[in-house]
Amino acid sequence: MGYQYLFDLNDEANWIYPSRLMNPNGTIGEDARTISFGEGEHKLYACGSSVMYKNTDGNLHFHEHHVGYETFFVDGGGLDIICNGKRAYVAPGGIVFVRPYEAHGMFVREDTKYRGFQHDIDGPPGNAERDLLETKIPGALELPEFPRELLFPKDFYEREEAPVYETVPPEECPTIRHISRPIASFALDGATAKMITARWENGGINEMWAAELEKGFYAKSVPFPAVAEMYYVTAGEIEFTVYDETFTAHSECVVKIPKFAPHSIVAKTDAVIYDVVGLTRWYAYFQDRASILQHAPERAAKPETWDALRRKYGCQVAETGRK
Ligand SMILES: [Fe+2]
Repeated sequence: MGYQYLFDLNDEANWIYPSRLMNPNGTIGEDARTISFGEGEHKLYACGSSVMYKNTDGNLHFHEHHVGYETFFVDGGGLDIICNGKRAYVAPGGIVFVRPYEAHGMFVREDTKYRGFQHDIDGPPGNAERDLLETKIPGALELPEFPRELLFPKDFYEREEAPVYETVPPEECPTIRHISRPIASFALDGATAKMITARWENGGINEMWAAELEKGFYAKSVPFPAVAEMYYVTAGEIEFTVYDETFTAHSECVVKIPKFAPHSIVAKTDAVIYDVVGLTRWYAYFQDRASILQHAPERAAKPETWDALRRKYGCQVAETGRK
């Protein structure tokens, strides 16, 4: 099987181990689909695409994690997040960002597309083994001797189901991120880069950025990128070329580019793309870039200045411009 670059989250061909979670009252709570499993020490590149169904039983599933970081895009529908004593509405376009020890739960107002990019978190373990068990011993999961705790992630701690909270507007709830409220923003030629979650909020592992691209903006990678990249397109159309393949990613598409693969993008329309794994130290890169441009024009004129800056911060983009 070849390496898959493009994942349309609405195409069920991309749903690995779809699983349905039921509410205690027997209604459907969630259709969870894995798109990509976590890789390496920090389980980066994990991606899931769920539909959370309108919550009819008032069950918050209030819980916390002790290691994992969760970032969820609300891509349709809408829900209320409860976190750190605040409850606020997340409309489509909003992003839920939850860190270790931040207990969280939600009221799902209407059926909601909920797209998750996590790191350091363990998903429900052993899906393949569970499928095999259910095939070989139907009903095994319901037997009293089956250890049900093994079906749930280990980094999951239930809290009291009825937390106390005040209801606030989304902009007063730090759990809710939005492209209109970036932590930092940098204007480039043909694009604006906006920091949505910072490295100091992610245990130093990564940082998440959005880029608003104008039609015609293009970017080209270094010849042999050292680490894999994962992007999420939320608006417009972006043409990707990876090695000898060219394809278009539209909204609700994830693109995963393997390491070593030379690649480039062209915005076919105005578009919005998120660097959801964000290993590049973008914030440091953009800050130092601005500093050099403003304070050291003689260094800015030398290509080696920019080569060194890219190497220093793991930036795999070698060239940008307009087409
Ligand atoms: Fe969680």
